[in-house]
Formats: sequence, structure tokens, C-alpha cells
Amino acid sequence: MSKDASDSAQRDKDDRVRHPLAMETLVSLCAARGFIYPSSEIYGGIAGFWDYGPLGVELKNNLKAFWWRRMVRERDDVVGIDSAIISHPRTWEASGHVEGFSDPMVDCRTCKRRFRSDQVEGERCPEAPKKRAIVDCDLTESREFNLMLRTELGASVDESTTAYLRPETCQAIFSGFKRVRESARKKVPFGIAQIGKAFRNEITPRNFTFRSREFEQAEMEFFCHPSESEQWFQHWREVRLQFHKDLGIDESLLRTRPHAEDELAHYARAADDVEFLFPFGWQEIEGVHDRGDWDLSRHSEFSGKELAVTDEETKERFTPTVIETSVGIDRTTLALLVAAYCEEELENGESRTVMRFHPALAPIKATILPLSKKLAEPARAIQRDLRSHFNVFYDDAGNIGRRYRRQDEVGTPFCVTYDFDSQEDGCVTVRERDSMAQQRIPIEGLRVHLSDRLEAAS
Ligand code: GAP
Repeated sequence: MSKDASDSAQRDKDDRVRHPLAMETLVSLCAARGFIYPSSEIYGGIAGFWDYGPLGVELKNNLKAFWWRRMVRERDDVVGIDSAIISHPRTWEASGHVEGFSDPMVDCRTCKRRFRSDQVEGERCPEAPKKRAIVDCDLTESREFNLMLRTELGASVDESTTAYLRPETCQAIFSGFKRVRESARKKVPFGIAQIGKAFRNEITPRNFTFRSREFEQAEMEFFCHPSESEQWFQHWREVRLQFHKDLGIDESLLRTRPHAEDELAHYARAADDVEFLFPFGWQEIEGVHDRGDWDLSRHSEFSGKELAVTDEETKERFTPTVIETSVGIDRTTLALLVAAYCEEELENGESRTVMRFHPALAPIKATILPLSKKLAEPARAIQRDLRSHFNVFYDDAGNIGRRYRRQDEVGTPFCVTYDFDSQEDGCVTVRERDSMAQQRIPIEGLRVHLSDRLEAAS
């Protein structure tokens, strides 16, 4: 190993020491508390597919809403769409996916498994893990394996009915560019954004939801004059890094990494990854790409439709350059779970697990806890009053300490206790998750009190 490579391996090792959370701990918390669990679990699961439970869907929806707010609602120069998952098959010829979206694979003649050629080094054979490294298995020559998931449309099954589940959400943005620009009366520079499912037949889905076969992307394609592409690339790089910091992720767990020339995708002229420090090392959660005019030119060529624009002032006709921001919603959700996880020793010698989610992302904003089941009626009335404003949970099972712990473990920022004094003084106790500080608050001002705190944090 060269000195550079050994320095970098040492740095990776140091980084992992800084991040002592074991993935198994997080995976079991996620299943036990209803964040994320294997899809079709009762049948033994299906590799690369995951279901989000009652808390997971809230967390993911909050993340998507935050992205939409920042990328679409708060900007004059970006509009949103929601396109079909299946596009005309020519789309994928134009995009280069039919020809080039593949991984080099090798098969083992003995255990009949398939591996990515670039991952066999150092990996153990799953059939004989102690005895044999994969490189020593009975391997075939490396072959290209297309990662798109196919399906058939209509009743007959032949090549003409083959369609693909989209491997990325952006292609419908390119094919719909003219329609959206004209209907929204937008002028270049402007962007089109969407959030949606994407599918890839990953050969080795791994690291929980990190590499899945079905996942969600939030992508924004920004169309600009070629002479402004560098300036917009810088702009979006900074905006997107700041977005991840604003999610409450500690800066020490984030970095950007420019792609080397030989790493660039076929369409990219430049690319920067936003990386997060997972327990399994630094990994990409988002890519910012300068795609040049590849997409619009190719779709123009394959569809025969003109996609160039005219600058109204100079009358110059040009094909816009695209700067893309593409973030994985599932990967970022996983990063949020990793970043939030915390085990703490308390002053009384007990310990607690607490998910320190940013309040704007926390699945439950407040939980109402009546001190006794006899107090259900007034406590339920508080829940009813709050629930049209934010997600509020109700828990009357077990002693109050255990109920606090349960809420800490799912990251609820506020617990509201209704006790026997509440009937007399018209107040409840609000306990804050991170500091565990408690404050007596009048019930009539509770909604505003909680809203102010949630708003202040977003
Ligand atoms: N349109 C460009 C594009 O799709 P990409 O780097 O292949 O670029 C963008 O994907 C983001 O999508 C990644 O940064 C990652 O967060 C997410 N992503 C890609 N493949 C994924 C997978 N198999 N499982 C989960 N997320 C994935």
C-alpha cells in the first residue's frame, strides 16, 4: 500500500472510532420502534427492500417537506413536478442507461452467487466465509450487468413492450423541460424539482437502507446559460451542503468530495459528493453534478423535438447547461437516524437512549401524558386541540419515568404531563427532551408555547 493509501486507511479507521454506534444497534431500534423494518418480513424479507413504519414515514415525510420548502417553495427560480415512474422506453436510450448503466459482475460456479467485480478483493465467500476469499472462488470472467429493473406493458410479452422502472427521477424533468418552461412561463436560468421513487437492481444491496433496490430521490435540475455553469455549480454546492447542516447534522459528520476525472458519470463534466460519516465510513448522500447539455441534446436528438431556447435580449439560440442536485431521501433519513442516536449516563446513575432529531424532523412533536388514567378526559382534550397543528401522541401506559424514556427513544422533543394539580391551576408540565428541563405552562397558552419552540428550531 502507498503512503497516501495507508494514511487514508488510518483516517477512515480514526473516523470510525469517532462514530462508535454499531449498525446492528440502530437496525434493531428502527425495527422495534417502527421506524424501518424489512419489507415482507414474515416471508423472510426481500433483499434491498424496506418498509417505513408509523414513525419512519413521519420522519421521511418531514425530510421531504423540508427539502420541498427550501428547494421549491422558498425560491422564485425553481418549480416542482411529479412525473410518472415509467417513461417511454426511448428515454432510457437517450439518457445512455440502456447502453451504459451497468456494473461489471462475476459469477461463482460453485455457490452460484453473483458479485461486483470491483468488490471481490478482500471479501469472504458467503458459502465458506472462514476458508475462502471470493477471489479464490471458481469465478467466471467479468461481464457487464444492466442495473435497470424491467417490466412488460400490455398483454403480449416481447421486446416492443419492455419498459423500465426509472433508475433516477430526473429524466422526466428533461423530457418535460419545454412543457414546464412554457406553462410556468419561466426563463433560463431556472430549475425543475421533484421527489419520487427510483429503482436499481443493485447486485449487493447492503448497509441497511444505504444501498437499496427501491429508494427515493429528491432531484433538482437547474437550466442555465453555458457561460454561467461554473457560478451555478458553486452556488448549488454551497446551498446543498448548508441544507444538510440545517437538518441538524453536526458539521464534523459532513464533508464534500469532488469526483476525480475517472469517477465521473458519462453525462457529467464535474461532480461533488456530499458525504456523511456512517458507522461503515464516509459515504455519499448527495451528488451535485454539472451535466453540461448532454441531457437536453440527447433528448432532442432521440425525440426529434427542439429543446434549445432563445435569449430574448441577445437573440442567441442555445441548449441550456444543467446543474443537478440529487439527494437520496432514504440515505439522508439513515444519516439523520445515525446522527440523532445518543446513549447517555444520567446523574442518578441510570442511562437513556435518546434520538436527538431536529424538532422540525422529529416524527412526534409532543406526547400528552396523563399522570393517571382517571385524568384521560382533560388530557385527551389537550391532544385534540394540538393535533391539527402538529403530530401529537398520547401515552398513558406505565410509570411516568418509563413513558419519558419511550419518548426519548423515538426523539419526541416535548412531553406534556397532565397531573392532579392541572385541574386546580390550569397548567401542565412541559419536559424538554435534550435538557430534560421541566416548566409549568398554562394550558391555554400551550399550543403557542410549543409552536414557538418548534418554529424557533426550524
Ligand atoms: N440523477 C443522478 C443520479 O441519480 P446518483 O449519484 O446515481 O445520481 C443520486 O444518485 C443519489 O441517489 C445518491 O447520492 C444517493 O443518495 C441516492 N442513491 C443512489 N443509489 C441508491 C441506492 N441504491 N439506494 C439508496 N439510495 C441511492
